[in-house]
Amino acid sequence: MKKDTRVVRGGLNKKRNAGVVNTPVVRASTVIFENVAAMRDADERVLKKHEKILFYGRRGTPTHWTLQEAITDLAGGADTALAPSGLGACTLAILSCVKAGDHILVTDSVYGPTRAFCSGFLKRFGVDVDYYDPTIGAGIAALLKPNTTLVFCESPGSLTFEIQDIPAIAAAAHARGAKVAVDNTWSSPLFCKPLTLGADLSIEAGTKYIVGHSDVLIGTVTGTAEAIHSVHSTAGALGLAVSPDDVYLATRGLRTLGVRLRQHQASALTVARWLQGRPEVKRVLYPALPEDPGHVLWKRDFSGASGLLGVVFRNTSQAAVDAMIDGMELFPLGFSWGGFESLIAPVTAARTAKPWTEPQPGIRLHIGLEDVEDLIEDLEKGLARFRKALKA
Ligand SMILES: Cc1ncc(COP(=O)(O)O)c(C=O)c1O
Repeated sequence: MKKDTRVVRGGLNKKRNAGVVNTPVVRASTVIFENVAAMRDADERVLKKHEKILFYGRRGTPTHWTLQEAITDLAGGADTALAPSGLGACTLAILSCVKAGDHILVTDSVYGPTRAFCSGFLKRFGVDVDYYDPTIGAGIAALLKPNTTLVFCESPGSLTFEIQDIPAIAAAAHARGAKVAVDNTWSSPLFCKPLTLGADLSIEAGTKYIVGHSDVLIGTVTGTAEAIHSVHSTAGALGLAVSPDDVYLATRGLRTLGVRLRQHQASALTVARWLQGRPEVKRVLYPALPEDPGHVLWKRDFSGASGLLGVVFRNTSQAAVDAMIDGMELFPLGFSWGGFESLIAPVTAARTAKPWTEPQPGIRLHIGLEDVEDLIEDLEKGLARFRKALKA
């Protein structure tokens, strides 16, 4: 089946759904067993083999299995674990690969709170962390140590948008026995499948494009048969559970991912090209543009681009960026992205492995599903405020 058919049909199971199209919201804490033998059997199958049968609400219900199966199918993995947020999915994936005394490599372009988890929380538990230049590719081999167990990638980085050479990183990591996890949120499993590029774990902040409506937090970790077992065990040990209502909304959002993402892409490309023609703009950070340094890798490994892009100004100041953002009508200021609406945020990249040398601050735009002409008109007025404040 082609991708769009998988988006629509993944996880659908007539028998499980009691005749209705969408798997209903099945809420549970307690599950009643026929007898002790049935309880023991379920215990063995769920806790040891991670099978999808009813056991206890924390271990999932048919509502959860539907989303897990749909994401697994789309990402091309063996199975998927759910987490209560995208950040929770990143930390779950990392924790499933480390123990005290291990070393991990994390991209310098990683999402800030994931970085804070690695530099703060993980270090407290005796895991050593080094950050690497996101454009390093096969050069990662020189940074791998005998105790390196994981390379954590985010491609493209959600602030600076470098595309990473996942096949080259995976080849080097696997040669030394380390696993590779990729935060794949920007493209979703529709436009990039890290597991087919050699990664062991593929992470989505489902909060963004999978949910698509800015009203639910959820994360997913899809893995190969070898890698997913430890993710399930770690999620079980941590007691992670996601509300079936949230899972239901994520599954509902997923069904329209294809049409939404293609519109985000079309509008983002139009806005990106328009921004490239503006005198205030030095660079538009969007890998789908032929001028972008990551474009060749993006073309090789991705089948599309999403609605999130960055803008680097020629000359900039905090006052100019603030003046632009504060007057926007169609680009409200807020965290996150991937919903139906456009958003704007100021951007200052914090790096340690490879300095970000572009003028700062810049802005990040999420191009939503509004009419693109209205969006451009709003941006034009915003750039006029930017120019005025820069001169003041
Ligand atoms: C690339 C990336 N990964 C993970 C997350 C975390 O997702 P959540 O907000 O669901 O915790 C975000 C959120 O902005 C993100 O941009």
